Amino acid sequence: MKSTDGSEAAKRRAAEAATKEVVDGMVVGLGTGSTTAYAIRELGRAVDAGLDVRGIPTSYQSRSLAREVGIPLTTLDDATPDVAIDGADQFAAGDLVKGGGAAHAREKVVDASADRLLVVADESKRAARLDHPVPVEVLPDAAPTVEAAVRDLGGDPTLRVATRKDGPVVTDNGNVVLDCAFGAVDSPTDLAGGLSAVPGCVEHGLFVGLADAVYVGGADEEVTVER
Ligand code: 5RP
Repeated sequence: MKSTDGSEAAKRRAAEAATKEVVDGMVVGLGTGSTTAYAIRELGRAVDAGLDVRGIPTSYQSRSLAREVGIPLTTLDDATPDVAIDGADQFAAGDLVKGGGAAHAREKVVDASADRLLVVADESKRAARLDHPVPVEVLPDAAPTVEAAVRDLGGDPTLRVATRKDGPVVTDNGNVVLDCAFGAVDSPTDLAGGLSAVPGCVEHGLFVGLADAVYVGGADEEVTVER
């Protein structure tokens, strides 16, 4: 069932439900995007109320928001996340496409290092099979060769362009992003392996087998948890 409430309330419900899994003393990976932002704000309220947590942000955006709402921050140098809370552009059978915010490289490092990854999304992100274009973060000089390799893998790459600037989107790591359409992906594991093997591909947005639970906000008041 698709969310019909403009998704914002559904995103918020999913994010706030997942945040309830955070308890005193935890280190929390802070994902990026509009759904995770609700979780960061909720964690900020919990910190105000006395919860003792530290966050590890996955982007400039999540770091700024976490600082704004008063979540103490740490890094992977000093701590391992007990849990990460992160959004997705699409989920199917527990696998994800991420990177709509061009933050998937750092997100994957933090999410994969966490003991548990909780994904937060509204119903519109659900699919039977992953068919959302896969963001691929690429060293700028390698864009032409990675584009050719993506075509060899059966994909159709498009350089992501900044909407309000004359030029490509540049990630927090100084790289560019190719959005690669593959149609419905038969084997996310095989495609993930193929993309990871391309020289110049810094990271791709297929998150295979990483999610421990997906909190899905529905159109009504309900949040379903898929583990
Ligand atoms: C950022 C991401 C986001 O988590 C993903 O794009 C979902 O964002 P939103 O919650 O705004 O729909 O992967 O790189």
